[in-house]
Amino acid sequence: MAWDSVSLLRTHKTKIVKQVMAGMSNISPDIPGEKCSRDLNYILTAIADCLESNNQKSLMYVIKNYFRGGKLRLQSVDLEIQAYGITENIIHNLFDRYKIDTLYKQKVTDCFDVIKENFKNGYTDTTYPDNNWTQMLEAKKQCATWSDKKVDKEYIDSILDDIHKHCNSKQNKVPYEIKVMDWSNPELRDLLFRHARDEETPEGKINTHFNTQVLAPYVLLFFERDDETYERDVLHKISNLEIGLSLQIAALSAVSKGLSIGFCKCFNDKDRNEFHKKFNVHSSPSVVLGIGYYKESDTQINPYTNVEYTSSISTSDLDKEQWHIKPAMKDYITYV
Ligand SMILES: Cc1cc2nc3c(=O)[nH]c(=O)nc-3n(C[C@H](O)[C@H](O)[C@H](O)COP(=O)(O)O)c2cc1C
Repeated sequence: MAWDSVSLLRTHKTKIVKQVMAGMSNISPDIPGEKCSRDLNYILTAIADCLESNNQKSLMYVIKNYFRGGKLRLQSVDLEIQAYGITENIIHNLFDRYKIDTLYKQKVTDCFDVIKENFKNGYTDTTYPDNNWTQMLEAKKQCATWSDKKVDKEYIDSILDDIHKHCNSKQNKVPYEIKVMDWSNPELRDLLFRHARDEETPEGKINTHFNTQVLAPYVLLFFERDDETYERDVLHKISNLEIGLSLQIAALSAVSKGLSIGFCKCFNDKDRNEFHKKFNVHSSPSVVLGIGYYKESDTQINPYTNVEYTSSISTSDLDKEQWHIKPAMKDYITYV
């Protein structure tokens, strides 16, 4: 039973930390004992919580706190990983002694694998949200840096199904189309990225704003679709209105699956013709939605050119420095 493994781990936590620290002082006498013991305590507390709740949220929270500004703040990742190896063995032996189901040994190993994976490749939050309304809204944060973790294509199919089944459309005309891209055509994806670069500022300064959202593992490109039932200027308005509805369903569907999203609506003139020609379209997308697993970082590599770009996101987080500030509620919402 889960509870046996949880309580065993909680009651033996202090003892385990002492044993690991004794083992580590043989390997590296200079190890900062106090800090390592404290960190190990956090990890063991989180692993016990994970066994209890049958998910890895507590552990992800601890791992996230090892990162600041996208960088891992550890003196020695190797030593830390050695310490986890010793810890894992001690827990396995403990579970064996108390005849705990091997399933929980595997769950402990999974926890250590997640720690190692995140230390090696950067923080990636792949925990599945509870899908209550508030959590979904909070998880729907603008994201522009992506983990290499593969996105299951079934998730993307399910997002598209959600749009098709649930998105409202006036007279069910659906005056838009969605093109889905993975990385199977890197050249075309690079062209999208170039087209989504902000142009030089009017003062002639080089604008370094790159929309790395569109380097996500998957992107949905929303275009107007003319079925010749709307007048041209009506079509433009209604298409974009409905694209907005569809876009938000896609975003919420993605976050409900533990994925992250990034919006992009900036397209420059410089690459417009080439984009239209190579994508065989008459207009640029109304908007693009990047979808993938979030990676905390200041930069994003373009896998096609291998060039690393500084990513920038604007957010409505009230406790973060913002470039774009929403008007006050009373300035745009009133009871009449
Ligand atoms: C239609 C639409 C287009 C957007 N286009 C861009 C864009 O081109 N570049 C960008 O950095 N952010 C873009 N954003 C992101 C918004 O700035 C973002 O939603 C806002 O900063 C709130 O982010 P938050 O939910 O993380 O707080 C766009 C958002 C929407 C809804």
